[in-house]
Amino acid sequence: MLGGFASILFVLFAVQSAFGNDVQRGEYLTRAAGCISCHTDGKAGGKPFAGGRGLKTPFGIYYSPNITADPETGIGGWSDPDFLNAVKRGIRPDGAHYFPVFPYTSYTQMLDADALAIKAYLFSLPTVRQKNREHDVSPPFSWRWPMMTWKLLHFDEGDFSPDKGRDDEWNRGAYLVNALAHCGECHTPRTLDGGLDWSKWMAGTEDGPDGDAAPNLTTDNKTGLGWTDEQLAFFLKTGTKPDWEEAEGVMGEAIIDGYQYLTEEDRRAIARYIGELPAIENHIGG
Ligand code: HEC
Ligand code: HEC
Repeated sequence: MLGGFASILFVLFAVQSAFGNDVQRGEYLTRAAGCISCHTDGKAGGKPFAGGRGLKTPFGIYYSPNITADPETGIGGWSDPDFLNAVKRGIRPDGAHYFPVFPYTSYTQMLDADALAIKAYLFSLPTVRQKNREHDVSPPFSWRWPMMTWKLLHFDEGDFSPDKGRDDEWNRGAYLVNALAHCGECHTPRTLDGGLDWSKWMAGTEDGPDGDAAPNLTTDNKTGLGWTDEQLAFFLKTGTKPDWEEAEGVMGEAIIDGYQYLTEEDRRAIARYIGELPAIENHIGG
């Protein structure tokens, strides 16, 4: 029992040994978690992590905030508990609730030490003075207080808990996919009020981020991904699919900004975990 627990801790922290300090480990985890894509207004030439990127949803456009360490317009004044409350619980320092377009629904599974390494990395970067832009969303979707009820319905708070019946590689894959890379936030259909439809976990959606379809990643024979683990690991590294098509849109970005920087072992662990998802039939696309 104790042995199993120690071994899981070893797996989750294994990556630590490859890095000199928290800042470098934080950079790696930030890549895996895709923070930069959402918090940088790349199209308008915005500075990294200064926010202002518009995120299209069925409810309107939400703009990401500045998460550089600027004390006035960013999060420079935040304590460690402030940061953990935001990233893992969706709670603002003043107690208000964040909208789930910020995927804290996945990040809640992150270990505190990993979340704080991300903070250390963000705080090591140049600060950017840039005011946050207001969301372009109409009531009731612009109101924060209904998020309390939303969270009761759709938010399962809590750290990742390893499956002791599975080996270390599978558990590392599960942690990377569910706590960091948040594949399921894009590859799962949502309910009308924006919660994830758990009965179709990873089974794809016609109406993903930016209105693009995200394919079914499960092992269903007819409608699932149908790639080998090697093909998926190669795709996460290069953006190239087995049929030589390239990853598009937000998937391309997730690879370019993030997944391509992971170690071979971590990409293989992700592919292994995805390659063993339970089959769910759900046909996506023409
Ligand atoms: C899918 C897009 C997306 C991703 C990925 C994302 N964020 Fe955000 N984040 C947002 C949006 C949008 C908000 C604002 C939510 C709101 O106003 O309720 C936000 C809010 C925040 C806040 C609160 C800032 C403030 O001023 O209140 C912090 C801190 C934050 N994100 C950090 C992170 C970190 C760290 C990561 C990576 C681990 C990350 N975000 C990944 C979209 C994203
Ligand atoms: C920000 C949203 C987002 C995230 C996060 C995301 N995906 Fe995707 N993914 C998409 C979209 C949209 C597409 C469709 C575009 C394309 O095929 O190039 C896609 C396409 C794919 C494809 C191509 C499938 C096919 O049949 O062509 C694979 C495989 C894939 N994603 C796996 C993953 C894995 C594994 C993760 C997590 C490590 C992940 N995705 C995270 C949005 C996302």
